[in-house]
Amino acid sequence: MEARRAHVARGPFHSTPVFVARASGAVVEDVDGNRLLDFASGIAVTNLGHAPEDVVRAIQGQAERFLHTSFNVVPYEGYVALAERLNRLAPGRGPKKTFLANSGAEAVENAVKIARAHTRRQGVVCFDHAFHGRTFMAMSLTSKAVYRHGFAPYCGEVYRTPFPYAYRSPEPDAGAWAFRAFRDLVQNHMGPDNLAAVILEPVLGEGGFVDAPKQFVKDLASFCADHGAVFIADEIQTGFGRTGTLFACEQYGVEPDLVTLAKGLGSGLPISAVTGRAEIMDAPIEGAIGGTYGGNPVACAAALAVLDRFEADGFALVGKAKRLGERIGERLMAWKERHPRIGDVRGLGPMRGIELVKDPSTKEPDKAAAGALARFCMQRGLVILTAGTYGNVIRLLVPLTIEEDELEEGLGVIEAGLDEIGRSA
Ligand SMILES: Cc1ncc(COP(=O)(O)O)c(C=O)c1O
Repeated sequence: MEARRAHVARGPFHSTPVFVARASGAVVEDVDGNRLLDFASGIAVTNLGHAPEDVVRAIQGQAERFLHTSFNVVPYEGYVALAERLNRLAPGRGPKKTFLANSGAEAVENAVKIARAHTRRQGVVCFDHAFHGRTFMAMSLTSKAVYRHGFAPYCGEVYRTPFPYAYRSPEPDAGAWAFRAFRDLVQNHMGPDNLAAVILEPVLGEGGFVDAPKQFVKDLASFCADHGAVFIADEIQTGFGRTGTLFACEQYGVEPDLVTLAKGLGSGLPISAVTGRAEIMDAPIEGAIGGTYGGNPVACAAALAVLDRFEADGFALVGKAKRLGERIGERLMAWKERHPRIGDVRGLGPMRGIELVKDPSTKEPDKAAAGALARFCMQRGLVILTAGTYGNVIRLLVPLTIEEDELEEGLGVIEAGLDEIGRSA
């Protein structure tokens, strides 16, 4: 860690300050031989667990054939095969096309470029508590101060409106309230003919695992359709089984015009995608979007192996994810009954969060309690992450392939940690 401090820029943060030596399934082993159970999955990436054998084999096979030519120089079949698979699997029924990039932020950047090229408009609407990445447009769409502070000026023509955060909504129907605010922004402040795109995480990731109400998402999608704007679902964190369906949009009954994907797609290799309606995806002219590494052949091979796993046995893994979500959800509800510091438990499928507060009647966020719980877990060999604009949410991102006894072990540690912070309240 001393060498890290000497040689690596201060900026990157470590939620679990140990160095990994190897990782497999749900377990990370550090350089001192400590075993840690991983309930963070590298921020929703290793949904199939660490180093799944079939994905590793696909990576090795491709690495032996060729590592890189650049799709912009000499194209290769893996890119096309992955695009075809994503077009078939992504939400939405009509003809679709795909563009591949390296990171989630890059997918978001390109989705906005494609939407602007298609609509020939500029305005992009995003939401309070959103996280879309750290590059300039993605950061401009992101709401939390720590990711933005000191980096201004931000990109122009970005407009922000409230997210329907039920627990903290000023009105009982958070969705109706937030939709009214959105409509007012577009109709009276931006002008609908300046609306190129709306970008939404169906379940806030970094923003605290808040699931948007179904009607709200439907209303947004139909507003976009009525006004010729592009509805972008950012499924970078929610995709690939994380919410108990392959994509969260399936549970919302909406067909986004574009969807951004990353994280679970590559099982650890850097790859991302924009998939969406073919006529929108074809708006940028030849050469207008691309990059040296986007859709790297080794990453494509990994992603194809990931999709094989999801499609195997009639999407059995997605069924397992759904059951996992129900189990975790029940446990969280039981904890909420017993622990006054738990203000809210929520989420979709196995993407679940616990919001900690100083006092349930004031709902004052308790960031210190979330930090203390994360430290308690780490000391007992469990990796968990905090989240939320106020830093007071514990988010659970267990591998979808987790074994029964590992799940119980990890949940037991969190339960003991909640008891501990309860005692010290
Ligand atoms: C919803 C969402 N969008 C975009 C991103 C940015 O992805 P990346 O870190 O790969 O750039 C993230 C990352 O956490 C995310 O959760």
